[in-house]
Amino acid sequence: MWFEQIIREETGCATYLVGSNETGECAVFDPLWDIAPILAIAEKKGSRVTHVVDSHCHADHVSGARRLARAASAELLLPAAAEVEYDAKGLQPGDHIRLGEVDMEVVPMPGHRPEQINLLVFDRSRGDEPWFLLTADFLMVGDLARPDLGQEGAEGSRVLFRDSIPRLLNLPDHVEVYPGHVAGST
Ligand SMILES: [Fe+2]
Repeated sequence: MWFEQIIREETGCATYLVGSNETGECAVFDPLWDIAPILAIAEKKGSRVTHVVDSHCHADHVSGARRLARAASAELLLPAAAEVEYDAKGLQPGDHIRLGEVDMEVVPMPGHRPEQINLLVFDRSRGDEPWFLLTADFLMVGDLARPDLGQEGAEGSRVLFRDSIPRLLNLPDHVEVYPGHVAGST
Protein backbone atom coordinates (compact mmCIF):
# COMPACT_ATOMS: atom_id res chain seq x y z
CA MET A 1 0.00 0.00 0.00
CA TRP A 2 1.17 3.55 -0.64
CA PHE A 3 -0.07 6.84 0.79
CA GLU A 4 0.47 10.45 -0.31
CA GLN A 5 -0.69 13.86 0.96
CA ILE A 6 -1.12 16.98 -1.16
CA ILE A 7 -1.47 20.37 0.55
CA ARG A 8 -2.84 23.51 -1.06
CA GLU A 9 -0.60 26.11 0.59
CA GLU A 10 -3.03 29.05 0.25
CA THR A 11 -5.77 27.43 2.32
CA GLY A 12 -4.09 24.51 4.07
CA CYS A 13 -6.57 22.08 2.52
CA ALA A 14 -5.33 18.49 2.25
CA THR A 15 -6.02 15.78 -0.31
CA TYR A 16 -5.01 12.16 0.29
CA LEU A 17 -4.22 9.37 -2.12
CA VAL A 18 -4.26 5.75 -0.95
CA GLY A 19 -3.15 3.12 -3.42
CA SER A 20 -2.75 -0.60 -3.74
CA ASN A 21 0.53 -2.12 -4.88
CA GLU A 22 -1.32 -5.36 -5.61
CA THR A 23 -3.96 -4.03 -8.01
CA GLY A 24 -2.52 -0.73 -9.27
CA GLU A 25 -5.68 1.10 -8.14
CA CYS A 26 -5.88 4.17 -5.96
CA ALA A 27 -8.52 6.16 -4.13
CA VAL A 28 -8.52 9.93 -3.67
CA PHE A 29 -10.07 11.49 -0.56
CA ASP A 30 -11.30 15.10 -0.64
CA PRO A 31 -9.67 16.10 -3.92
CA LEU A 32 -8.66 19.71 -4.33
CA TRP A 33 -10.01 21.72 -7.26
CA ASP A 34 -6.68 21.44 -9.10
CA ILE A 35 -6.67 17.79 -10.14
CA ALA A 36 -3.41 17.90 -12.14
CA PRO A 37 -1.10 17.19 -9.14
CA ILE A 38 -3.35 14.29 -8.13
CA LEU A 39 -3.23 12.69 -11.55
CA ALA A 40 0.55 13.29 -11.68
CA ILE A 41 1.12 11.40 -8.42
CA ALA A 42 -1.06 8.53 -9.56
CA GLU A 43 0.89 8.33 -12.82
CA LYS A 44 4.24 8.47 -10.99
CA LYS A 45 3.07 5.55 -8.87
CA GLY A 46 1.99 3.60 -11.94
CA SER A 47 -1.51 3.66 -10.53
CA ARG A 48 -4.95 4.55 -11.84
CA VAL A 49 -7.53 6.52 -9.88
CA THR A 50 -10.54 4.22 -9.51
CA HIS A 51 -12.34 5.76 -6.52
CA VAL A 52 -12.96 9.42 -5.67
CA VAL A 53 -14.46 10.19 -2.25
CA ASP A 54 -15.73 13.47 -0.83
CA SER A 55 -16.06 13.44 2.96
CA HIS A 56 -18.85 16.01 3.02
CA CYS A 57 -20.41 18.75 0.95
CA HIS A 58 -19.42 22.16 2.17
CA ALA A 59 -18.52 25.59 0.84
CA ASP A 60 -15.19 25.57 2.71
CA HIS A 61 -13.98 23.12 0.07
CA VAL A 62 -14.08 23.71 -3.64
CA SER A 63 -14.04 20.06 -4.55
CA GLY A 64 -12.42 18.65 -7.65
CA ALA A 65 -14.17 15.32 -7.09
CA ARG A 66 -16.56 15.35 -10.03
CA ARG A 67 -13.94 16.57 -12.50
CA LEU A 68 -11.42 14.06 -11.22
CA ALA A 69 -13.90 11.18 -11.43
CA ARG A 70 -14.72 12.16 -14.99
CA ALA A 71 -11.09 12.63 -16.01
CA ALA A 72 -10.03 9.28 -14.56
CA SER A 73 -13.25 7.36 -15.36
CA ALA A 74 -13.40 6.63 -11.63
CA GLU A 75 -16.33 5.97 -9.35
CA LEU A 76 -17.56 8.98 -7.38
CA LEU A 77 -18.53 8.21 -3.77
CA LEU A 78 -20.22 10.46 -1.23
CA PRO A 79 -21.82 10.00 2.17
CA ALA A 80 -25.27 8.56 1.51
CA ALA A 81 -26.68 11.31 3.75
CA ALA A 82 -25.30 14.05 1.50
CA GLU A 83 -28.02 15.90 -0.37
CA VAL A 84 -26.65 16.30 -3.88
CA GLU A 85 -28.33 16.56 -7.27
CA TYR A 86 -25.63 14.75 -9.25
CA ASP A 87 -24.93 11.05 -9.60
CA ALA A 88 -22.73 9.47 -6.94
CA LYS A 89 -22.63 6.21 -5.04
CA GLY A 90 -23.75 6.64 -1.43
CA LEU A 91 -21.50 5.41 1.38
CA GLN A 92 -23.09 4.14 4.58
CA PRO A 93 -21.40 3.91 7.98
CA GLY A 94 -19.55 0.60 8.15
CA ASP A 95 -19.16 0.23 4.38
CA HIS A 96 -15.72 -0.84 3.18
CA ILE A 97 -13.84 0.20 0.05
CA ARG A 98 -11.38 -2.55 -0.91
CA LEU A 99 -8.49 -2.17 -3.34
CA GLY A 100 -6.33 -5.27 -3.03
CA GLU A 101 -4.54 -5.07 0.32
CA VAL A 102 -6.06 -1.63 1.01
CA ASP A 103 -9.20 -1.65 3.12
CA MET A 104 -10.99 1.58 4.02
CA GLU A 105 -13.87 1.58 6.49
CA VAL A 106 -16.45 4.35 6.39
CA VAL A 107 -16.76 5.97 9.85
CA PRO A 108 -19.45 8.59 10.47
CA MET A 109 -18.10 11.77 12.14
CA PRO A 110 -20.96 14.28 12.35
CA GLY A 111 -20.68 17.67 14.01
CA HIS A 112 -18.91 19.74 11.36
CA ARG A 113 -21.47 18.59 8.85
CA PRO A 114 -24.19 16.04 9.63
CA GLU A 115 -23.21 13.78 6.73
CA GLN A 116 -19.45 13.89 7.29
CA ILE A 117 -17.53 10.62 7.01
CA ASN A 118 -13.96 9.64 7.84
CA LEU A 119 -12.02 6.72 6.40
CA LEU A 120 -10.26 4.28 8.72
CA VAL A 121 -7.51 2.75 6.61
CA PHE A 122 -6.06 -0.74 6.94
CA ASP A 123 -3.18 -2.29 5.03
CA ARG A 124 -4.18 -5.94 5.19
CA SER A 125 -0.72 -7.00 3.97
CA ARG A 126 0.68 -5.60 7.28
CA GLY A 127 -1.94 -6.92 9.66
CA ASP A 128 -5.47 -6.57 10.95
CA GLU A 129 -5.01 -3.34 12.95
CA PRO A 130 -5.94 0.00 11.36
CA TRP A 131 -3.01 2.19 10.26
CA PHE A 132 -4.55 5.67 10.08
CA LEU A 133 -7.70 7.77 10.03
CA LEU A 134 -8.44 10.39 7.39
CA THR A 135 -10.38 12.88 9.50
CA ALA A 136 -11.38 15.44 6.87
CA ASP A 137 -12.77 18.56 8.59
CA PHE A 138 -13.67 16.72 11.78
CA LEU A 139 -10.18 17.38 13.14
CA MET A 140 -7.63 20.08 12.34
CA VAL A 141 -4.06 20.60 13.53
CA GLY A 142 -4.48 21.82 17.12
CA ASP A 143 -8.22 22.23 16.85
CA LEU A 144 -11.57 20.59 16.27
CA ALA A 145 -13.96 21.04 13.42
CA ARG A 146 -16.07 24.16 13.43
CA PRO A 147 -19.53 22.91 14.35
CA ASP A 148 -21.24 26.22 13.51
CA LEU A 149 -20.94 26.20 9.74
CA GLY A 150 -23.26 23.39 8.71
CA GLN A 151 -25.82 23.84 11.46
CA GLU A 152 -26.51 25.87 14.59
CA GLY A 153 -23.27 25.87 16.65
CA ALA A 154 -24.59 24.48 19.93
CA GLU A 155 -26.33 21.63 18.15
CA GLY A 156 -23.19 20.80 16.15
CA SER A 157 -21.07 20.87 19.32
CA ARG A 158 -23.39 18.46 21.09
CA VAL A 159 -23.12 16.01 18.21
CA LEU A 160 -19.33 16.36 18.08
CA PHE A 161 -18.89 15.65 21.77
CA ARG A 162 -21.57 12.95 21.99
CA ASP A 163 -20.85 10.94 18.84
CA SER A 164 -17.64 11.81 17.06
CA ILE A 165 -15.00 12.55 19.71
CA PRO A 166 -15.66 9.28 21.61
CA ARG A 167 -15.44 7.43 18.29
CA LEU A 168 -11.99 8.98 17.72
CA LEU A 169 -10.76 8.36 21.27
CA ASN A 170 -11.86 4.73 21.17
CA LEU A 171 -9.46 3.97 18.34
CA PRO A 172 -6.21 2.24 19.35
CA ASP A 173 -3.45 4.68 20.40
CA HIS A 174 -1.19 3.72 17.48
CA VAL A 175 -3.68 4.91 14.85
CA GLU A 176 -2.28 7.95 13.02
CA VAL A 177 -4.60 10.84 12.19
CA TYR A 178 -4.44 12.94 9.04
CA PRO A 179 -6.60 16.08 9.02
CA GLY A 180 -8.43 17.78 6.18
CA HIS A 181 -6.91 21.18 6.99
CA VAL A 182 -3.41 22.01 8.17
CA ALA A 183 -1.82 25.36 9.02
CA GLY A 184 -3.02 28.18 6.81
CA SER A 185 -6.67 27.28 7.06
CA THR A 186 -9.00 30.21 7.41
FE1 LIG B 1 -16.02 21.54 5.75
